[in-house]
Amino acid sequence: MDKITVIGAGAVGATCANVIAHKDVTKEVILIDVKPGVAEGKALDIWQTSAINSFNTRVTGYTDDYEKTRDSGIIVITSGLPRKPGMSRDDLIKTNALIVKDVAGKAMKYSPGAIIIMVTNPLDVMTYAATKAARNTGNPVFGMAGILDTGRYRAFLANALNVSPLDIQALLMGGHGDTMVPLPRYTSIAGIPLTELLGSEEIEKIVERTAKGGGEIVKLLGTSAWYAPGAAVAQMVEAIVNDQKRIFPVSTILNGEYGLKDVCLGVPVVLGRGGIEKIIEIDLNDDEMALLKTSSGHVKEVMKALDDMNLF
Ligand code: LAC
Repeated sequence: MDKITVIGAGAVGATCANVIAHKDVTKEVILIDVKPGVAEGKALDIWQTSAINSFNTRVTGYTDDYEKTRDSGIIVITSGLPRKPGMSRDDLIKTNALIVKDVAGKAMKYSPGAIIIMVTNPLDVMTYAATKAARNTGNPVFGMAGILDTGRYRAFLANALNVSPLDIQALLMGGHGDTMVPLPRYTSIAGIPLTELLGSEEIEKIVERTAKGGGEIVKLLGTSAWYAPGAAVAQMVEAIVNDQKRIFPVSTILNGEYGLKDVCLGVPVVLGRGGIEKIIEIDLNDDEMALLKTSSGHVKEVMKALDDMNLF
């Protein structure tokens, strides 16, 4: 895959383009934004780090010029309004769905085979929106959230245990929101079950902080996060371009997996050159399944609100 497009040159899109370029896994990253000069300027700034940071991936930016995105292998969509303090991710639904419909439509026209990675919030519902937009083109669509959420979970656990975050293996499922389902039973520290190293009260606190991890940053900054979201998308791009078959939680439309249907939700998948190559179905106990169902119910409600708007 010689060309990756990132649509939306806000903080998340620009960080994502920056991290992809630093990974040097593709020839070209195209950054697109509607605001004149923003994509051009940020792309130029990123490209000017190439000699310093030793990468070859060319980064260029364009104002709303989708012709330049032609034949991209992957299209990352970050366009949309971010959350303001006091707003839930769901408050953004109509504005962002219309933006997603517009940019996904234009991008898919020039890259009919491209994999679409959704990043716009509310993530699972926007993944659904892009899935609808792709109905006629057949572009595979899935969303980034699980790597970000597990990244937060692993960072909090690394602090609590005073160990390297690299040694923490974790799985988290469900929607990208307060009902997400971190799975302590499927969390291990260099192979040691988490439950042997940390008490249940402490685990519970970390699970809670993870679920509200995005909001914690919104409160601090007055806008949503970008370093971790951008890095998380770049890790998905790398897994696809290099056909790594990495296992990550990714938001995708379910078709009976986990007994759930017609809902976009984070589940563990194998990610390779073909995009989602397999959805992994793990055993969940009754409590875990109940949490996943609650999360699914919440996402479905917002999906229905989107359906009722008849935007697609
Ligand atoms: C977050 C926003 C980007 O979780 O959803 O930080």
